[in-house]
This record gives sequence, structure tokens and C-alpha cells, in this order.
Amino acid sequence: MESRIIKSAPHMNYLDFIEKELKLPEKDKNSPLVLDLFAGCGGLALGFEAAGFRTIGYEMLPVACQTYNKNLKGWCKQVFLDTKSELDESADVVIGGPPCQPFSVIGNQSGVSDPRNGFPAFLSAVEKYNPKIVVFENVRGMFYRNKWYLDKIVEYLQDNLKYNVEPPKILNAVHYGVPQRRERLFVVAHRGNWKFPEPFHWNFTAGDALGELAFSIPESAKFLTKSMDDYIERYERKSHCMRPRDLHLDQPSRTVTCRNLNGATGDMLRIRLPDGRRRRLTVREAAKLQSFPDWFEFCGSEGEQFNQIGNAVPPLLAKAVAMSVLQCIKGTDILENTPSLAKKHRMMITQ
Ligand SMILES: C[S@@+](CC[C@H](N)C(=O)[O-])C[C@H]1O[C@@H](n2cnc3c(N)ncnc32)[C@H](O)[C@@H]1O
Repeated sequence: MESRIIKSAPHMNYLDFIEKELKLPEKDKNSPLVLDLFAGCGGLALGFEAAGFRTIGYEMLPVACQTYNKNLKGWCKQVFLDTKSELDESADVVIGGPPCQPFSVIGNQSGVSDPRNGFPAFLSAVEKYNPKIVVFENVRGMFYRNKWYLDKIVEYLQDNLKYNVEPPKILNAVHYGVPQRRERLFVVAHRGNWKFPEPFHWNFTAGDALGELAFSIPESAKFLTKSMDDYIERYERKSHCMRPRDLHLDQPSRTVTCRNLNGATGDMLRIRLPDGRRRRLTVREAAKLQSFPDWFEFCGSEGEQFNQIGNAVPPLLAKAVAMSVLQCIKGTDILENTPSLAKKHRMMITQ
């Protein structure tokens, strides 16, 4: 996949690009409705709204709901989702990013036995509300120790809820205009025809996203101390790191995570200034690397803002998926209005 990338996007300004791509259309009550479970600050929802959907979010953290409600046209409700949760209304689409900690290789991958596992709540909402299409995303880690559980989820959607389920697919955000290599696993269950979005043949770099900011010293700049620099050096030596892990402006960024934004760890995201000093990224820089437009404001303390950004699906990637969802729904509507095709389609999914 990497070899498809030719170079940085020619003659295109990154900020203009995201402004244009993520401009929210006026609210239209006839637009298809999306229920966004585990909505976070609304990265996934922003992509869907930009593609023309209405959204309602469900999220347990008040500060993330506040961010969603400040920026999106839809409304995010503060709730703790479980298998008994009642959502507001039925919808065409259910999407969500159940917490990834139970499946991430950074944790101990305890999967179903981790009380944070959100899949039972997600699947029971799908069962109750029977949307036309379901999209969930999670970490690549679901392909490892807990692959059996991912298989069970797919089986449940297929056999019990009678969806066509696409083989789980890893999408890399860098192929959809995000200046960051970030892989996420996507599962799509539908009752029509599905096509994953085509990757672009070019990419943006961290330098395209940050511009002059990368050389600036913001008022709130947090410099790494001598002992942190030493720690990073030891970390990079031990992990046989070939290139220092400072942000390389001529390339897409490494994956932006809550951990490498917040913590003073060996792999933290940082910029090396021309004078040799290193500074941590600001909230706005992290948001740009995740493809949030500058008008999108985050609520809460700096740490809470970093967590919302690190947890989010990059809105540009979300929009690419949302456009495929739109196509699929249109196709499903045609199927439903065409008796002979609908019959054939039903046979296909019950075989
Ligand atoms: C991976 S993040 C979702 C990111 C979001 N899709 C985005 O693009 O911005 C998962 C979110 O689920 C929330 N969460 C975890 N367990 C929850 C529960 N039981 N009910 C509601 N929200 C929950 C977390 O607070 C976190 O914001």
C-alpha cells in the first residue's frame, strides 16, 4: 500500500483542503441519521456530518460531549452505554468506536474480560434498532490475541442479525489526506453493496499540516528537559531506532495517540527546533495532524483535550468511509423499492 503514495499533494494547501472537505452542510431533517456510539469528541461524527448525515452521539465523558456539542450540528448525550441502553430513535446508520484498550497491544489485550469492553452494548443497540448499515472501528490489535472475538462479532452480525459483513479491513488514514500514518480496523455490516473508499495517490506531510508553526515557539511551549532528552536517547538506542523519533516534517507523522501526546515517554511526539531544543506538540498541532480544522475547538484541560484528539478517528478518514456509507444506503434504498431485486438480495443474505 505504501508504494502507492507518490509524494506530497501537489499545489494544494492542507488547511484549505480540510476546510473545504470538512465544511458542514446546513442541517436538513431529511438527511439520513447516524447514531454514533462511544462518540468521544466527535472525530468520526465530523466526517459523517461533512458527508451530509445528521448525527446523534452517545458518550460517557462530559468534557468530550461538550466538545462534540460545541462543534457539531448534531447533539451528543452524556450516557454510560450498556446492553440496556435506550437510544433516541431508530436510524439508518449505527457507527461507533468501542473502547480500544481491551484489544490494544499497548495494554494486556484482556478483551472480553476487560470491563471496558463496549461490544456487548454496541451489538445490542444494533439488534434493537436494526439500522441499514453498521460501521465500527477499532485497533489492529483485534487481529491478534482476540481475533476469535472479532470472528464472533462478525458471525453474530451475519448469522443472528442477517447482515452482509465485509471482511474486517485495515485502513490507513495517510491514504485519505491525513498527514499521519494511522491504521484502524473497520468492520462494515450492510444489506446492499459495499465498496471501501479508494485510497488517494498522494499524501500530506506533517510539514504541510503544521507550516510555520513547526518552527515557532508558542507561549505555552513545553520544552523537554535535559533528563528527558537523555531518556529519549537511551530509549532510542535500546529500541534500535534508526532515525530519531522527532517529528519529520517531510513525512506524514507517526500515529498520534493519547499516550504520545500526554506523557513524557520515550516515544512522545515532539518537534526539534532549529536551535536543537525539543518541544512537545500543542493541542492545535496535534489536532491538525489528526485533520481537525482550525474552527474545531476542544474543551477541558490540556490533558483532556489531548485524550480526545488521540482517541479520535481522523475526520478526513471518517468522511471517506461516510461517503461509501452514503453510496451503500442509496443502493439499499433502490433495492428496497425494487421488489424483484429486493427478493434476490434477501435470498443472498439468508443463504
Ligand atoms: C475510541 S474513543 C471514540 C472516539 C470517537 N469515535 C471519535 O472519533 O472521536 C472511545 C470513547 O468511548 C467512551 N466510552 C467508553 N466506555 C463508554 C461507555 N460505556 N458508555 C459511553 N461512552 C463510553 C470513552 O470515553 C471514549 O471517549
